[in-house]
Amino acid sequence: MNNAQQTKIICFANNKGGSGKTTTCSNIGYGLAQLGNKVLLIDGDMQMNLTLSFFEEEKVLDFAQGEKNLFYAVRDQKDLTDYIVATDFDNLDIVPSSSLMSSIEYELFSKRQREYILKNCLKSIKAAGMYDYILIDAPPTLGGWVMNVLCASDELIIPVEASPWGLFGLANLFDFVNSVSDYTKNLHIMGIAITKVDTRKNYFKQTLDTLNELDDIYVFKNYIRVDSSIEWAQDNSRPVLAYRKSSRSAVEYMELTKEVDNYGSR
Ligand SMILES: Nc1ncnc2c1ncn2[C@@H]1O[C@H](COP(=O)(O)OP(=O)(O)OP(=O)(O)O)[C@@H](O)[C@H]1O
Ligand SMILES: [Mg+2]
Repeated sequence: MNNAQQTKIICFANNKGGSGKTTTCSNIGYGLAQLGNKVLLIDGDMQMNLTLSFFEEEKVLDFAQGEKNLFYAVRDQKDLTDYIVATDFDNLDIVPSSSLMSSIEYELFSKRQREYILKNCLKSIKAAGMYDYILIDAPPTLGGWVMNVLCASDELIIPVEASPWGLFGLANLFDFVNSVSDYTKNLHIMGIAITKVDTRKNYFKQTLDTLNELDDIYVFKNYIRVDSSIEWAQDNSRPVLAYRKSSRSAVEYMELTKEVDNYGSR
């Protein structure tokens, strides 16, 4: 990591469902830990897919039905330290989610300073410098909860699927991110990570051209191609980097991870 003193908080958001947010968050998280960073993952989605990337279903349901999950931490405005769970991997911890997160918008509605609840829950973890990176997986929505995720973050990575509908809606995301500047001056867009690429399709070239035309938005050099190993890895509750290190997508995710880790020195 470039600045050993400071915890960098990165969120993965895009209102387009299935754009690769969770796959990218889990693999970059695992990759950063492999590079020697201390990493905390936060599963911000009621689908619990990030938690499922590291634990079997039964365990995930235990987290979801118990008290140790993000929903209770945010609802009760608690320090997230007490909600951290170790994964099977060195230097890699997680705050699990719950399907109860479906009502988080309702819970936030009546709270004062409601845009900053997650930021406050993270305050002491950040101040203690417990982690080099905190990665937050956002749900495919734009609303009060994702506003919380953005306000808690230093950097935003936008996973975009290389497809026509993958690009549709990006404008809404940028408008939403702009509206966050009313609440925080801190958030910076780190870049767009292109996922699920089929290099045989001409459409990929068009996607790249369109994204590269966006002013002031970095497009990561390393993109991730379609690879069935990703689904096998998820079926085995592992990021593909941990499940099949030599697979195409694992190699690509490691290169993308290095780009993220070296971002400051670009
Ligand atoms: N490179 C890839 N090759 C093949 N399948 C992929 C790849 N990346 C992601 N997938 C698959 O695409 C689906 C969506 O990916 P993922 O869950 O990461 O997206 P998401 O943006 O988090 O979705 P959501 O918006 O529902 O949270 C998953 O079933 C995943 O296994
Ligand atoms: Mg997801």
